[in-house]
Amino acid sequence: MLNIAVMVSGGGTNLQAIIDAVESGRIEGARIVLVVSSRAGAYALTRASTHGIPIFVAGKSEFPDDEERGAAIASALREAGADLIVLAGYMSILSPQLVGGFAGRIINIHPSLIPKHCGMGFYGKRVHMSVLAAGDAESGATVHYVDEGVDTGPIILQERVPVRAGDDEDSLAARVLEVEHRILVRAINRLIESNRLNNSTV
Ligand code: GRF
Repeated sequence: MLNIAVMVSGGGTNLQAIIDAVESGRIEGARIVLVVSSRAGAYALTRASTHGIPIFVAGKSEFPDDEERGAAIASALREAGADLIVLAGYMSILSPQLVGGFAGRIINIHPSLIPKHCGMGFYGKRVHMSVLAAGDAESGATVHYVDEGVDTGPIILQERVPVRAGDDEDSLAARVLEVEHRILVRAINRLIESNRLNNSTV
């Protein structure tokens, strides 16, 4: 059984996509053991609690010191027995210690076709505004491993989305978000499969 911890900051629709997939059996062999939020008011926490998933709030108000906050998150993740950490709308930068401590076991969903429109400052609506300003004919979503950079780890899955005439950042965001939900579940299933293969005895 793969223990998944999901890190959130906002509405949690990507978290909900994982919850629904686990509960419907579209994700097998995994369970969500913890939801960590950088904001106490994140609706994602309501989604977690509604489904009986433990939560842990670690924002600047709870832990003003960056290092203490990183250490608190790391111990919460370890206590929960997290094998895979999924950043789903998580708007805080992970400490190098945390990334190092869970190397190769943290993935992120980003609402563009990395390496375009990503990196520091490219989050939420800003991503889609950048795509529209560039006049791109298409955008999309990317699931990638998290390394010490911002949106720079190896890509796991990407799916393209057309930019339509008349699109604004809201209509493009909505079209990309649907793809995010789909490829995040697909990426988790791919990791479960490879985890099973790696652990399988020959
Ligand atoms: C999504 O576009 C995600 O890619 C970005 O944050 C947005 C909100 O995600 N990182 P969610 O609804 O909170 O899952």
